[in-house]
Amino acid sequence: PPKITSVKPLAESTGLSSLPSIYTFTHNLHDEPISDDPEESIPIIDVSLLVSGSPEEQSPVIHQLNKACSDWGCFMVINHGVPESLTKAMIEVFQEFCNLPEEEKQEFHGNHVMDPIRCSTGFNPSVDKVNLWRDHLKFYTYPEFHSPNKPVGFSEIALELSKRNREVAIVILKAISKSLGLEESYIEKASNFELGLQILAANFYPVCLEPERAIGIPPHSDHGLLTLLVDNGISGLQIQHKGKWINVNLLPNALFAHIGDHLEILSNGKYKGVLHQALANDKATRISVAMPHGPSLDTVIRPAPEFVDNESHPPKYIEITYKEYVKLLLSGKICSKFRLDFEQ
Ligand code: SIN
Ligand code: FE2
Repeated sequence: PPKITSVKPLAESTGLSSLPSIYTFTHNLHDEPISDDPEESIPIIDVSLLVSGSPEEQSPVIHQLNKACSDWGCFMVINHGVPESLTKAMIEVFQEFCNLPEEEKQEFHGNHVMDPIRCSTGFNPSVDKVNLWRDHLKFYTYPEFHSPNKPVGFSEIALELSKRNREVAIVILKAISKSLGLEESYIEKASNFELGLQILAANFYPVCLEPERAIGIPPHSDHGLLTLLVDNGISGLQIQHKGKWINVNLLPNALFAHIGDHLEILSNGKYKGVLHQALANDKATRISVAMPHGPSLDTVIRPAPEFVDNESHPPKYIEITYKEYVKLLLSGKICSKFRLDFEQ
């Protein structure tokens, strides 16, 4: 396999006076204005009420979730119980991972897009047209836990964080089921969630000397059901809302939750997998840790019969296993959202 080189050493090399052309990205959507309307701020969901609140306390939160998922496809999660010290420890230990000598990271490069541990820079460097201004490490943390075994403490912290995040994801998915008018374990059952794939995807965006000509991650929606994300407080993540890019500045100790394609498919388009991108910047290194939660790999995801009636609401998506979907996505054969009208 071709040797994949990290961006970090390039970013740190002296003598780089302009962005190498392989990193130049045309921002098609960049001319759309960034919204600064305070009314247009990302919804906030207090999950502690979903865990311990009475039905009377839960019902307004379920209603807020319904609005957040249908209008935005994302929200900030507060009072989720994941210790701040744990997310900070994950960010720190990932920074240490990035600092390892390139030769030591080689063993995690993997040969295949579905490898359970994969250190890379793009989605799939063999088909990507532009190099992304980020270094990326992703590993499958559930149903089987995989993790790099270095640096010291890395896998222990990742295991603890993945367990805690999964608990939060389950609480949210139950409430999302209810917000769709379904029984609370509906999504878990439809997605075989007890064997559902959880990924830890960590991103390192070094300082970039020409950020407006580069891209951290181009616009995409995530596969899976629900992604929970934290960062090191440096901005860069944007979501698209009503045709505008909006900066996602996380509240202190909040998780940023966003809906993935498979919740869109399951709800037959009622809830949308939100389009997002990560910009490069010339001020400070940004680190993010995203944990996508999806169906089990062999689940065939299809619109729930509750949302389909062949006359007024025909199914908008084809049926495909989660594994096939991810493979097609990562091989560059589809963009996102495998719609019925998609031409292969
Ligand atoms: C992602 O889209 O996978 C990560 C976005 C981010 O770095 O915030
Ligand atoms: Fe993403």
